[in-house]
Amino acid sequence: MRVPVHIVDRPLVHDALVTLLDKQTTPEHFRRAATRISVLLAAEALRDIATTAITVDTPLGPADGCTIGPEVVVVPVLRAGLGMLDAVLELVPDARVGHIGLQRDEMTAVASQYYSKLPARLDAAYVMMIDPMLATGGSAVAALDLLRASGAREVRMICIVAAPEGVALVERHHPNVDIYTPVVDRELNPQKFIVPGLGDFGDRLYGTV
Ligand code: PRP
Ligand code: URA
Repeated sequence: MRVPVHIVDRPLVHDALVTLLDKQTTPEHFRRAATRISVLLAAEALRDIATTAITVDTPLGPADGCTIGPEVVVVPVLRAGLGMLDAVLELVPDARVGHIGLQRDEMTAVASQYYSKLPARLDAAYVMMIDPMLATGGSAVAALDLLRASGAREVRMICIVAAPEGVALVERHHPNVDIYTPVVDRELNPQKFIVPGLGDFGDRLYGTV
């Protein structure tokens, strides 16, 4: 049976996660931990990507190997998703990059779109949407709606902290999207922040608190 939520439960993932959770962590160390955890999460999300067999010549003769088959498109949801982008590009340097800008209203927590620029031919690509926080799920569903409307078929989402409400909303609207996350936290508070969570990811990443 298909599992839509993949809990990436690895010691190195938790080591980076606890740095992100700690309110004493400075933006510099927060950025480093975000990159560290994103490499691990992206590697997990890419573990079953199709490969193409090739043969190369080593200095001593031919050797069989393989390369990644489909083209990868990575789509950070601005602005917090940018904190995960370098990590994914480190793993897939020739990935194309789309951007979706969404901002949650501070009072209502409803996300509205302010930017979108996506590569062409999404239908043939392996799309990885990256957004560290999955809270109400409103932003994720809006971004996934846009990706689907733009032709994306194979889509995975990577986040760093999820809430049960967000997971349920994505599952309801986009049942074919696999979610990779280290943790599904307890709940949302009345302001729709994840508890215990880590606060506002974008503010902590960019020092705008
Ligand atoms: C954060 C986060 C998600 C969204 C999650 O972005 O990066 O996009 O909140 O919340 P939701 O699941 O309730 O929609 P935010 O709107 O704070 O913008 P920012 O990345 O620019 O800080
Ligand atoms: N966005 C964040 O950055 N943190 C939350 O807890 C919820 C939404």
